[in-house]
Amino acid sequence: MKKHLVIGITGGIAAYKALDVVSRFKKLGFTFDVIMTNNACKFVTPLSFQTISGNDVITDMFSEIRTWEVEHIELSKKADAFVIVPATANFIGKVASGIADDMLTTAVMAAKCPIILVPSMNTNMYENQIFQQNLIKLRESGFHVIEPEEGLLACGDYGKGKLPDPEVIVDNTLEILNRSHEEKDLMGKKMLITAGPTVEAIDPVRYITNHSSGKMGYALAEAAHKRGAEVVLISGPVSLKCKDGIKKIEIKSTQEMFEAVNKFFLWADVVIKAAAPSDFRPEIIQNHKIKKNGSALDIKLTQNPDILMELGKKKGNKILVGFAAETDHVTQHAREKIIKKNLDFIVANNIKEAGAGFKGDTNIIEIIESNGNTTQYDMKSKWEVANIILDKVKMYTVE
Ligand code: PMT
Repeated sequence: MKKHLVIGITGGIAAYKALDVVSRFKKLGFTFDVIMTNNACKFVTPLSFQTISGNDVITDMFSEIRTWEVEHIELSKKADAFVIVPATANFIGKVASGIADDMLTTAVMAAKCPIILVPSMNTNMYENQIFQQNLIKLRESGFHVIEPEEGLLACGDYGKGKLPDPEVIVDNTLEILNRSHEEKDLMGKKMLITAGPTVEAIDPVRYITNHSSGKMGYALAEAAHKRGAEVVLISGPVSLKCKDGIKKIEIKSTQEMFEAVNKFFLWADVVIKAAAPSDFRPEIIQNHKIKKNGSALDIKLTQNPDILMELGKKKGNKILVGFAAETDHVTQHAREKIIKKNLDFIVANNIKEAGAGFKGDTNIIEIIESNGNTTQYDMKSKWEVANIILDKVKMYTVE
C-alpha cells in the first residue's frame, strides 16, 4: 500500500538537501504534503519543492482555504509519518515546549503517526544542554530522531550537526514505517525480561548495589508488551512504574532474581537479561547494625550465581539475549560472554561512554550475534534501543 508523508522543512542551511529527500520519496512512490516554515522559505523557495513534489507547498496557516476540513488536522490524519528535515533547534524547542504557532508545529501536535526528526545545526547548538534536554523529552514522548553526522559544517566549524545523506534519511524512514505498521508483531511470544540492580545486604542498614536504574529493562518490557508479547518483568529495586498488562515480580538480591527467573524460564520463549545483578554478596549478613570501632572493616564477599550462565546450560530452543556492561575491550569481552553463557546474541554497552549505559535515557549499543555478525548503533533513546533489540529477537523467532 502506498504511504503518505508530511515533509516539514524548517529554516536551516541544510533545507536545500531536503529537495533530494523529497525527490527520493517521490521515486519510491510515496505521496506527500510539504509544509515549510517562514524561515525555511528564506533558504529555499516553496517553488523548488512544488516543482520537485508536483504538489502545492503549504507555508501559511491562514493563506487560502485548500480544503473544507480543518487543514492541519486533516494533514495529520492522512499522514503515515511526518519527516522534519532539517529540524532546527528552534523547531525542536517549540515542539518540546508544546508551542503550536504555525502550520508545521500545529500539524505535528495533532499527529498520531510516527514523527521523525532530522536535526541539523551548528555543533555548539547541537551540544547545548537545553537543546539536548528537549531532544530527550521528545524521544521519550515517542518521536524518532535520525542523528546528525559529524563533519565540516556550513558555518566553518567541525563537529556533529551535519544533515545525514538523503539516502540515510530515506532508509531510516522506511525502517521506522515498517516497524510502526507491525505494531503487534510479537503477538503470541512469551518474554521474560530482567531489569535494574540487585542489592546485597551487609547488615540491616547497609548494602552493596550498582548504578542500574532499570530504564533499559523497563523500556524493553514496555516495547515488547506494546508489540503484543506477553511479558514477565523481574525487577530489582528501582523507582520506575510499569505499564498495566506487564506481570512484574519485584526482587532484591541476585539469589532472589535467580529463583524468580528459574520459576518463569520454562514458560518463556525469549529471555532478555538487561538487569545488572551483583556478582558478589557478603558471605555473612549481620543481623545487627555493625558498629564503628576505630579500625578498618573487612567484609568477605562470596560469589553469586551467574543467572544467565545457568540459563545457557539449559537453553534448548529458547532465545537467550544478554547484555554486556563493559568499560574496555567491549566487543572482545562481549564475544567471550556469548560463548560462556551460550547466548543467541548480546547487547554490549560501554558504560564509560557519555550517553550510554546506566541511568540516562539513551544508550549506545553494539549487537553481537553468536555467528559473529556485529552491528553498531549511534546514540539512541532506550526506547529505540529496545525496539532494535526486539526486531533482532523477531528475526530469531521466525520459524
Ligand atoms: O538500568 P539502566 O540504568 O537503564 O542501565 C542499563 C544497563 C547498563 C544496566 C544495561 O544496559 C546493561 O548493560 N545490563 C547488564 C549489566 C551487567 O550485569 O552486565 P555484565 O556484563 O556484568 O553481565 C552480563 C550478562 O549476564 C547480563 O545480561 C547480566 O544480566 C547477566 N548476569 C550478570 C551477573 C550475574 N550474576 N547474573 C547474570 O545473569
